Amino acid sequence: MAIQWYPGHMHKAQKEVRDIFNQVDVFIEVLDARIPFSSQNPMIEEIRGNKPTLKILNKSDLADPKKTQIWQRYLEQESSVKTLAFNAQHSDKREQVIRMIQQLVPNKEHSVKTIHALIIGIPNVGKSTLINNITGRTIAKTGNEPAVTKNQQRIKLKEGITLIDTPGMLWPNIENENSGYRLAITGGIKETAFELPDIASYATEYLINTYPEALKERFKLETLPNTDIEFLEKIGRQRGCLRSGGMVDLDKISRIFIVEFRETIIGKITLETPEMIKKEQKHVALLREQKEAKRKAKEEDKKRRRARHKKNRR
Ligand code: G4P
Repeated sequence: MAIQWYPGHMHKAQKEVRDIFNQVDVFIEVLDARIPFSSQNPMIEEIRGNKPTLKILNKSDLADPKKTQIWQRYLEQESSVKTLAFNAQHSDKREQVIRMIQQLVPNKEHSVKTIHALIIGIPNVGKSTLINNITGRTIAKTGNEPAVTKNQQRIKLKEGITLIDTPGMLWPNIENENSGYRLAITGGIKETAFELPDIASYATEYLINTYPEALKERFKLETLPNTDIEFLEKIGRQRGCLRSGGMVDLDKISRIFIVEFRETIIGKITLETPEMIKKEQKHVALLREQKEAKRKAKEEDKKRRRARHKKNRR
């Protein structure tokens, strides 16, 4: 996969979160409700242990509400976790967020000490918009390009809560290849990491299987073609995305399709469920084992060759 998150960056972000860990009473993990697994930072789970966490399923206005509920139930199986479906652009749930933070740290609820809440999330998931929503100010920088870095900032709220903005830049889940595609579809990573038709094909295949009615309705089709490419070609012709010679311009129709997906013109769609992730993670674990076995075999081979070389020189 053509996504690069530099080890140096990862190491720095990890160190910054670890350094601040002891000061933190509660984590506020911002996730994209359309991809709650793929928009997680894989290191956070391990660092936070049992520390109270509020998982905010942000951009829930773009996600399938039924699947958001499934995700909430699933995530709340962990006793230290509470969840909230949120729309950082238009939500009036500020009071609820404050209450949930206070409830997650009960022994500090009535004390004079301030609750330190660390806001974490991958770029473009909506952290700045959320901070603006909670503080009622436009102080956090928001941007439409993923990976905008910001300095750490602390914001004191009148309710005795200090919000701490994520110090470093946290990378998304990239070990699972499906996650890469889902992040590209939703705009969580730059789509230049992939070919546009590849992203659109991935989305189409999923939608044909999971949201066929939404596709039929949007593109006025009685029946759906069997494959993603047939579908893209069909709607490409329908929209007049043609190259000279009458071939469908796949780049053009793919871009249109991705925009329609992101703007929920096709519908409110969630791209993954806990069930899907469980299956995929088994596959990822298998690949990881195979990779590790290959690495070990290579190392053994190297050692053997070195020993032989030494012996021959004697
Ligand atoms: P970040 O700090 O985590 O990097 O993300 P940021 O707040 O900058 O948000 C990234 C984009 O996501 C912004 O859009 C923002 O408006 C949008 N966004 C944030 N929360 C929500 C939400 O709950 N629902 C929806 N629909 N969008 C959300 P943008 O296109 O970059 O900018 P703009 O269109 O707001 O100008």
